[in-house]
Amino acid sequence: MEKSLLKLGVLISGRGSNLKALIEAIKNKELNAKICIVISNNPKAYGLRIAETNSIPTKIIEPKQFNSLEEYEKIILNSLNQYQIDLLILAGYMKVLGPTLLKTFPNKIMNIHPSLLPSFRGLHAQKQAIDFGVRWSGCTVHFVNEELDGGPIILQEAVPVLPKDTDDSLSERILVKEHEFYAKAIQLYAEGRLKIKNNKVIIIDK
Ligand code: GRF
Repeated sequence: MEKSLLKLGVLISGRGSNLKALIEAIKNKELNAKICIVISNNPKAYGLRIAETNSIPTKIIEPKQFNSLEEYEKIILNSLNQYQIDLLILAGYMKVLGPTLLKTFPNKIMNIHPSLLPSFRGLHAQKQAIDFGVRWSGCTVHFVNEELDGGPIILQEAVPVLPKDTDDSLSERILVKEHEFYAKAIQLYAEGRLKIKNNKVIIIDK
């Protein structure tokens, strides 16, 4: 049974609510995967506690201890290689990936972003949406490539922006959808139903 589970490595930097949602989806059998290791670049990330509580191995790897992004990512890679992971999940990981990780996992890295990409890439996407005055925002799960928040889109879910929304209220509403859709996208991958053609993701019917 265990053998057929998709092996995930998860990179985090902070509170880890998406990590928690993935753990719940696995427990509820909505996601046929196993989280083999959680790595944080931030020793204070609350997500580390969530992983520990769920008996998932954790590792803190701080970029400041290395001379270059390459050295730092090689250490991350060593840890991931111990578990022979199938897919690398970015869950609130606040660093831009370099060639070491990107080349090792081509089309095998997923990220979730709190906007409807390609709108509002980068930091504070919810604030960008409010400042721009859009009526709809949402979340996007995508494969990661060398372009920041620019890789092939897997799933998107729209969320209305309400007249009285603040960054916080919009973020909360989007987060509910993030927690649902990240697991769904990973499950599609686990089922072998995601193909990339001309930089676009095709979802194969069951
Ligand atoms: C989420 O909004 C996610 O979309 C973005 O970073 C945030 C991480 O939140 N990439 P959490 O650490 O999963 O709670």
